[in-house]
Amino acid sequence: MAGPGSRSSVTASGRAPATAVVACRAAAGPAELAAHFRIRRQVFVAEQGLFRTAGGGDDRDGRDDDPATVHVIGLADDVICGTVRLYPLAGAAGRWKGDRLAVLPGHRQQGIGAPLVRFAVTTAAQRGGAEMEAFIQPANVTFFEWLGWRRAGGLVAYAGIPHQRMVIGLSGVRAAAAGPGGRAW
Ligand SMILES: CC(C)(COP(=O)(O)OP(=O)(O)OC[C@H]1O[C@@H](n2cnc3c(N)ncnc32)[C@H](O)[C@@H]1OP(=O)(O)O)[C@@H](O)C(=O)NCCC(=O)NCCS
Repeated sequence: MAGPGSRSSVTASGRAPATAVVACRAAAGPAELAAHFRIRRQVFVAEQGLFRTAGGGDDRDGRDDDPATVHVIGLADDVICGTVRLYPLAGAAGRWKGDRLAVLPGHRQQGIGAPLVRFAVTTAAQRGGAEMEAFIQPANVTFFEWLGWRRAGGLVAYAGIPHQRMVIGLSGVRAAAAGPGGRAW
């Protein structure tokens, strides 16, 4: 499927064809969890400069200590190079939230971010979620729309910069995942 820019990943950008085998899964064990945190810190704190004041230079928060939170890693040819995190929201039955989507700079535009988002959506659906929300940096709104998300409301401040609240319904995702052959994200 063409990406949100409707361009070829090879001819338009001139970059090498993406040949890596991409996989997404929940982090298993301390080493994978440490890699998950390391990537988040590298992207959000070191690269983007977020959480330096409010988070004291660390993007980790209480959600990371909650056993209901799923810490996901994305791998390219067995190298961990991406993250996303998801968790159910208390007091809102069936509502899940996703955040901390990050791919290391050297691995971007190789088809890792999109599978991470799809993996998070499918995981939330399979765990009984009805709707998922995320606060998205404006530069990534088109990317999320391409992945089936829609804008909900206006921009809000998060981590010191504007974010767009976006949502996606999960009932169709759950049905597709349960159907014949499941759904290959
Ligand atoms: C946003 C991010 C996760 C995307 O990851 P990625 O691995 O580069 O994404 P993919 O390669 O799976 O992209 C799939 C398609 O979407 C396109 N795309 C990726 N990011 C996009 C964006 N921000 N806007 C529009 N299109 C985008 C890709 O070009 C690709 O299209 P193609 O198939 O035509 O080449 C990554 O750029 C990143 O980590 N950014 C820094 C952290 C960040 O902003 N996190 C999100 C916070 S809301």
